[in-house]
Amino acid sequence: MIINISFTMLLANIGLASGSADLRLITYNIRYAATLLSTNEEPWAVRRPLMASQVNFETSNRPEALICMQEVLNEQLVDLQSDLGSNWNHVGVGRNDGAQDGEYSPIIYQADTWRLDRNKTYWLSQTPHVVGSTGWDAALPRIVTVAQFKHRTTDVPLVFMCTHFDHMGTVARNESAKLIIKIADEWMVQGSNSTKPAPVFLGGDLNLELTEEGNKTLTTPGAFQDIKDLVPKTHWYGNAKTSTSFTTSTLDDMRIDYLFVRNPRGIQFSTYGVLTNKFEDGVYISNHRPVVVDAEMLA
Ligand SMILES: *[C@@H]1O[C@H](CO)[C@@H](O)[C@H](O)[C@H]1NC(C)=O
Ligand SMILES: *[C@@H]1O[C@H](CO)[C@@H](O)[C@H](O)[C@H]1NC(C)=O
Ligand SMILES: *[C@@H]1O[C@H](CO)[C@@H](O)[C@H](O)[C@H]1NC(C)=O
Ligand SMILES: *[C@@H]1O[C@H](CO)[C@@H](O)[C@H](O)[C@H]1NC(C)=O
Repeated sequence: MIINISFTMLLANIGLASGSADLRLITYNIRYAATLLSTNEEPWAVRRPLMASQVNFETSNRPEALICMQEVLNEQLVDLQSDLGSNWNHVGVGRNDGAQDGEYSPIIYQADTWRLDRNKTYWLSQTPHVVGSTGWDAALPRIVTVAQFKHRTTDVPLVFMCTHFDHMGTVARNESAKLIIKIADEWMVQGSNSTKPAPVFLGGDLNLELTEEGNKTLTTPGAFQDIKDLVPKTHWYGNAKTSTSFTTSTLDDMRIDYLFVRNPRGIQFSTYGVLTNKFEDGVYISNHRPVVVDAEMLA
């Protein structure tokens, strides 16, 4: 984080802002550590060092990075936590028992940079407070992890939500979007300690493309905005599609992983990128690609 001291003091003197906070947001479906492997899928033991070095590269000297992951089993969380180092913390629980069983949608952050004020997991169902509940026509229990942070040096507050929508239930995806908007409504007020509401960011694998009307609930006016749309096209980087499966065919590639914002007041988004999940060694680090956004938030 870079603060121009004299500029900051000038602003403080005239009673405006007290600096700005850099922000890097990442969402990455890392693929659960499967025992029954798909064609071209390498076991976690092979993917782990590649993923750790990729995440490390994307966050090195960026203590403000907030990472939302999906499909993370407890053993993978333990591995990544140990590979990334003790500066990093996470919030979140397994979706099956609200403890360590089942996939997490964790939020990974550095406690030196962000003060965690509150965190909670909701199940995407008619009973969001019932641990392990499955909603509507969903095949599996699904969750959203919510964390409220405050940037330690500038006091900038934000809420970050991390989710993974069901892969089968079309009603469940639609209703999950409505539930998340409702949860964001609550947290954007509570997430702020002043009269202005805090921005709410949402990362996740939605298992849907936003191209069709029936899929756009999350981005109805007044709800969330796709951050890609807030970044000038000249600053888009990398791939368009975010999910590749383990096949080299691009026919089944889809854009289903997103970073959204609600209430982006005072935030400048500078880049949007969809990075790679495969290098010249041919190993798929995951069957999804990481999505990265950089921004600057005024205090
Ligand atoms: C908040 O995060 C911590 C750390 O992962 C976890 O132990 C706790 O269960 C979480 N609380 C909820 C309600 O998700
Ligand atoms: C809100 O401000 C009060 C008074 O400064 C403080 O005690 C409290 O911890 C703050 N709460 C949050 C969520 O920042
Ligand atoms: C929504 O997205 C999914 C996944 O891309 C797609 O199969 C479906 O046709 C889209 N439209 C509707 C209305 O669900
Ligand atoms: C999603 O919900 C909205 C509002 O209730 C409804 O109009 C729309 O038809 C639903 N779409 C799907 C695909 O279920």
